Amino acid sequence: MDKLGERVTIAMDGPAGSGKSTVARRVAEKLGLLYLDSGAMYRAVTVLAIQHKTQTNIDKLIELVKACEIAFDDNGKKIFLNSSNISDQIRTPEVNRLVADIAKVPEIRKEIVRHQQKIGAGGGIIAEGRDLTTVVFPHADFKIYLDASVQERAKRRFTELQSQNVDTTLDSVEDEIRTRDEKDTSREHSPLRAAEDAIQVDTTGKSIDEVVDFIVGIVAD
Ligand code: DC
Repeated sequence: MDKLGERVTIAMDGPAGSGKSTVARRVAEKLGLLYLDSGAMYRAVTVLAIQHKTQTNIDKLIELVKACEIAFDDNGKKIFLNSSNISDQIRTPEVNRLVADIAKVPEIRKEIVRHQQKIGAGGGIIAEGRDLTTVVFPHADFKIYLDASVQERAKRRFTELQSQNVDTTLDSVEDEIRTRDEKDTSREHSPLRAAEDAIQVDTTGKSIDEVVDFIVGIVAD
């Protein structure tokens, strides 16, 4: 997709369960863009920490992050850490529990942001996460902040977990989302917030297709 002769960059942020990854993936397919799941990269660093038992030795972890290679394949569907496919490992309950504390370390963020900026340097990309519109691609052609009520986000996550046969309750999923929101928005470095010039999209009560069509419409306009 070209925008005024240049390859378009779409940056998208929003809280857990707002639909970012599903929406961004579909927009990428429709517009022929590269899809960048930035959260997957922080999850990969968490897997690295677990592999080397450096969850609490942050200095050592920073060294490992500087030396590691994180790569995507299949337009973001697969992620590799030092050439090994860790696509399943990044979604385990242990990673879910640890990732926010690893993602708040500024030196780790610096390395990962640099990597993301390299991936997006040529444009033709839709990237989603928590700081894509504010830190990683503040000059993106389109900046979108996706949100939904906490109850709706919990319901979506609960349905997803049920389909994966994960034994949990709606209440505990809602609690987990509230805790994650608190961590994501209150951390010192690159907290989740809407960029001033981001287009705000509330997905409560909207289908994925409605949100995708809205975004494609803005970009194609
Ligand atoms: O979107 P996700 O659940 O895969 O994100 C995993 C964690 O990484 C979550 O705690 C937020 C954090 N994250 C971040 O700090 N910055 C990003 N750009 C993306 C995710």
